[in-house]
Amino acid sequence: MDAILKIEHASFRKDAYDRNLFADFYHKCGDLFLVAGGTRRISGYMLTCTRSRGGSPMAQVVSLAVAPGARRAGVASALMESTLRRLRRRRVKRLSLAVKVTNRAAIAFYRKYGFQPLRSLPRYYEDGKDAWLMVRDLT
Ligand SMILES: CC(C)(COP(=O)(O)OP(=O)(O)OC[C@H]1O[C@@H](n2cnc3c(N)ncnc32)[C@H](O)[C@@H]1OP(=O)(O)O)[C@@H](O)C(=O)NCCC(=O)NCCS
Repeated sequence: MDAILKIEHASFRKDAYDRNLFADFYHKCGDLFLVAGGTRRISGYMLTCTRSRGGSPMAQVVSLAVAPGARRAGVASALMESTLRRLRRRRVKRLSLAVKVTNRAAIAFYRKYGFQPLRSLPRYYEDGKDAWLMVRDLT
């Protein structure tokens, strides 16, 4: 958890989730809380939660971050591919996420994985910046 919080703070600063929130998500969505790296060094993580909407299982990326020194080496890609495989096995129909409109790296990453912006979420972040709600069908 310490290593995850360090990456979270390095990545999101004031928007970073705290220990309690991670613990809460771990209890609710622990089976889709994926960590990249070995026991000695964690290089990134991806946390996804599922829910049922109108009888159809949907999923949302809650957090994805890679340690600054480990970026552009395919870590997030490995986490995303593993998550997508698990979601398909569960017959999840759609994966969504919110990303800050100024976060070019993440938007480029999500676009590469077939996510499309659906609509903007005004003043979604504490600093007043908007988010894009991005979605990808898994069917
Ligand atoms: C976005 C993030 C998770 C990507 O992680 P990563 O491990 O570096 O990503 P990958 O190496 O798997 O990149 C896969 C592809 O995504 C795209 N991409 C990733 N980072 C990029 C960048 N900085 N600029 C442009 N495209 C980028 C590229 O197409 C890349 O493929 P390539 O390296 O062959 O060109 C990472 O930059 C990060 O942790 N950022 C801070 C936290 C964050 O913004 N999380 C998302 C919040 S919604």
